[in-house]
Amino acid sequence: MKFFIDTANLDQIKEAQELGVLDGVTTNPSLMAKEGIGGAQNILDHYVKICNIVKGGDISAEVISTDFKGIVAEGEKLAALHPQIVVKVPMIKDGVKALKYFSDKGIKTNCTLVFSAGQALLAAKAGATYVSPFIGRLDDVSTSGLRLIEDIVTIYGNYGYETEVLAASIRHPMHIVDCAMAGADVVTCPLSAITALLNHPLTDVGLEKFLEDYRKVNS
Ligand code: G3P
Repeated sequence: MKFFIDTANLDQIKEAQELGVLDGVTTNPSLMAKEGIGGAQNILDHYVKICNIVKGGDISAEVISTDFKGIVAEGEKLAALHPQIVVKVPMIKDGVKALKYFSDKGIKTNCTLVFSAGQALLAAKAGATYVSPFIGRLDDVSTSGLRLIEDIVTIYGNYGYETEVLAASIRHPMHIVDCAMAGADVVTCPLSAITALLNHPLTDVGLEKFLEDYRKVNS
């Protein structure tokens, strides 16, 4: 399973990269705004900075247009920025048309704001590279996000769709483990959820004992 980090914060991206387990980055307009990145050129420059940190990884850059012509124009500009850019397109009617257009042109896409298996099926039919079901936001409204991941994995498996299931809106380490159990291809997470995977009290106690025993005969 691939690990992406879901942030536009360069320090966090560098930290995840240094951990050695990072396969890519997803951003969205809210995450860019959180870092205070505004203005067309600044936004483009920021994507290039991210690409240069995560060498070889897929970097999702989201369009803000909602009409076919606008999505295509924006997406082509984003894709031309850097070979690692994946154009992130919302699950709307013109977005689906744009997914097909980009797929035919060999431009990688990430279909975002997916909340149902039907939407995921449509994105795969349109040739999306990745589909992003938002599991945390579903959990927030008393609907199982994990169940959606399981359903999409089953449907894609039934027909051999190559679209990768990118579980998004991950909130905690158990989301990551559950997505791995369900067969998601990718999880995109905050850095805190990735580093939380490290934690186990028995690891801490066990290491302390090993070091204590070593010191007993080596001091
Ligand atoms: O990749 C989508 C993700 O950023 C949404 O996460 O936590 O805002 O629901 P969240």
